[in-house]
Amino acid sequence: MEKKPKITVVGSINMDLVTITSQAPQRGETLFGEHFQMNPGGKGANQAVAAAKLGAQVQLIGCVGNDRFGQDIVAYLQEQGVNVSNVEPVTDVTGTATIIVADQDNSIIYVPGANNHVTSSFIESKRDVIAASDILVLQLEIPLEGVQKAVQIAKENGIKVILNPAPIQSLPSDLLKNIDYLTPNEHEQVLLRQDRSTEELDGKLIVTMGSQGVCIYEQGEGVIIPAYKIDVVDTTGAGDSFNGGLAHALSKGLNLKDACKYGNAVAALSTTKLGAQTGMPTGAEVEDFMNSQGSFVHKSYI
Ligand code: ATP
Ligand code: RIB
Repeated sequence: MEKKPKITVVGSINMDLVTITSQAPQRGETLFGEHFQMNPGGKGANQAVAAAKLGAQVQLIGCVGNDRFGQDIVAYLQEQGVNVSNVEPVTDVTGTATIIVADQDNSIIYVPGANNHVTSSFIESKRDVIAASDILVLQLEIPLEGVQKAVQIAKENGIKVILNPAPIQSLPSDLLKNIDYLTPNEHEQVLLRQDRSTEELDGKLIVTMGSQGVCIYEQGEGVIIPAYKIDVVDTTGAGDSFNGGLAHALSKGLNLKDACKYGNAVAALSTTKLGAQTGMPTGAEVEDFMNSQGSFVHKSYI
C-alpha cells in the first residue's frame, strides 16, 4: 500500500458561532439576522480537516476546553479523519469565533481560551510527534512562543514548514528564516511588508488574493496562479482550505505552482457551502472539479 506523507498541524481549535445577515450592524445598532449556526472551526483545526478530507494522514496538536464545545469538536475532527491523540483538554473554555457573514464577506471576533495553552512547554512535550512529520503547518491563533518552538523542532529535524500568518502579527527574523512557505492574504501581506524586508520574504511568500487566486513571489517577481470561477456562498475558511490543499499537494511532491493550483481548487470548492470545515471538499471532489475545468491533475491524485 502507498505510504501516506505525515502532515502535522499545530494550531487553534474553535467553535464558530455564525450569524448570517443581509447587512452587518453599525456600531450600537441591533438588526434582525436571517440564520444562526454553530460550526467547528479554528484555523488549525480547519487546515487539518482540509488536508484530511483530501486523503492526507494528518495529526493535529492543540488544546480544547474541558467543556461541551471541546468534546463536540474533538468528536467531529475524528469523524473527518484527523488524528486527535495530541489534542488535549485543559481547564479553560474552548476557543470561540463569533462570525458575521454579510453580503459574501465575513467579520470575526476571536476569543482564544484553551488555545492560549499551546505554549512552548506544551509543544516541547510533543517534540517526537513533530519530529516524525513530513510537513508542519501553523497559523497565529496560538501563542507565538508555541509557534516558535514547533518551527525550531521542525528545522532541527529537516521538516518543511508552512506558516499561514493569520491573524497577522509582527514576526521575528529568526522565525521567518525557518519558514519555507508563508501564506498571508492581501491584508496580512501589507502588514508583513511593513516590518520585514523584501529579501527576507522572497522565495517563501505566497499571497492569497480571494477571487483572484494566489501570487507566488520569487526572485523579486510575482507569478499569479488564478482562482477558479465559482458561485460563492461563504468564504469563511477559504484561506484554511487553500493551506490544507497546499500542504497535501506539496507533501505528495507537486511543484509549488501546481500545488497552488490544487490549493485554489480546494479553496474554491470550500466557498460553495456555509461553514469553514463543513464546506471542505474531498480529494475525489477536487479531482472531478479540476478535470471539469480542464486543469492539470497529477497522477498521484488519480
Ligand atoms: P478567509 O479568512 O475568509 O478564510 P483569506 O482572506 O485567508 O480567507 P482569501 O485570500 O480570501 O483568504 O482566499 C483564499 C483562497 O480561496 C484564494 O486564494 C482562492 O484560491 C480562494 N477563493 C477565495 N475567494 C474566492 C472566490 N470568490 N472565488 C474563487 N476562489 C476564491
Ligand atoms: O479562518 C477561519 C477561522 O478563523 C474560523 O473557523 C474561525 O474559527 C477563525 O478563527
